Amino acid sequence: MTRIPEESWFHRAKLGIFLHWGIYSVKGVPESWAMYYHGQDVPWPTLSREDYFAQYDGFTAARYDPAAWAALFKEAGARYAVLTTKHHDGVAMWDTALSDDSIVKKSPVGRDVIAPYCEAMRDAGLHVGLYFSHADWSHPDFPSLHAPRRDNALFTSPMNVRPDDQMEDRAGWARFLAFRNGQVRELMERFHPELLWFDGDFPHGPAVFEMRELRDEIKARDPQVIVNSRLGAWGDYETPEQALPVRPPEETWELCTTVNRSWDYAPQDNDYKPIERIVRIFTECVGHGGNLLLGVGPDAEGRFDPRAVEILKGLGAWIRPNAEAIYDTRRGLPDGLFNGASTLSADKKTLYLIAYDRAANYLLVKGLASKPARVTRLDTGAELSTRGDLGVLWIDLTAAGTLNPNATVFKLEFEEPLCLK
Ligand code: GLC
Repeated sequence: MTRIPEESWFHRAKLGIFLHWGIYSVKGVPESWAMYYHGQDVPWPTLSREDYFAQYDGFTAARYDPAAWAALFKEAGARYAVLTTKHHDGVAMWDTALSDDSIVKKSPVGRDVIAPYCEAMRDAGLHVGLYFSHADWSHPDFPSLHAPRRDNALFTSPMNVRPDDQMEDRAGWARFLAFRNGQVRELMERFHPELLWFDGDFPHGPAVFEMRELRDEIKARDPQVIVNSRLGAWGDYETPEQALPVRPPEETWELCTTVNRSWDYAPQDNDYKPIERIVRIFTECVGHGGNLLLGVGPDAEGRFDPRAVEILKGLGAWIRPNAEAIYDTRRGLPDGLFNGASTLSADKKTLYLIAYDRAANYLLVKGLASKPARVTRLDTGAELSTRGDLGVLWIDLTAAGTLNPNATVFKLEFEEPLCLK
């Protein structure tokens, strides 16, 4: 995985908002998968192909206000956003010249929604990311080749591959790749994203998808653009999904997860994560050198579920008084030295300890080669005393006051860059 320099906006941003918005938002069914799983015994709503695409008629974006989105994301503390330009269903959210499968040509919106999003994000100072799926269940040439594997329905579905008794259509696959590359080119030329977030890199391997060639083409067009890992081995960073990795990647990474269980708008999904869990997931990512890309889905009119809004605002309310411990920081202490997360300032002279639980009247940190000159609680500035013995620093919490139920940050200032024993 190419390493993105630590000074890059991507490393310093820490929080992004992930938006799945498309015709699937009309009925609030799982994006694209609702038709893929139709007729199968699955615990989520499904639609026949016909009913799925009938959602085109309900996609109005009637209250789409990207400036209000940007204001909300800023309030959440986000520094970038990633919006679906095309999910696996193949429905483009911009006026692509390469196909009729777009909300511009087939839905009442009748216009591109990507340009206003990019403009509003940029106006608010947010970095612009665009999501794009390689897999395309609208394009007739996508199922041109035989299944590369047979042990998983994803690899044998007629939406993805040709049945064994039909000849492979190599020319069809070449047409599909030219189409995919053409759409990516359109996105870059029209919208100039800073981040291209690929997905749907199935059912074929990276060689068949010509991921390396695509990456080279993208970087030749704009060397600054960042690409995620769903490009075979040619992405710039890892994208673990829906679970904190046991071993955080050494190189650049970003966890994507959702505020409830769904990527897109799903009014029936009430399983929202409590704010303390969101704060914990976020700070665990940051402490391990990663970003969090937090998923919320606007409805077909372009509005967010109030429960999602509350979570975004709650996260921002936690970040604001603790911002110094988040943005522009670096990966903190290795696991095992402190019972919580931690981050380091870029000059490594300040260590931020992020404590989730108040287990006793002190915090302990192991492995520090020097004593901090000063220890304070970040959000209140309360000065705390410390003792050091047996190679352990003990931070006395007597003067710390009531801790923040989501997480409390302690700031340890050192005379010299921090070294570990
Ligand atoms: C999962 C979902 C897909 C979603 C993606 C985001 O792979 O199946 O629909 O777009 O996560 O990372």
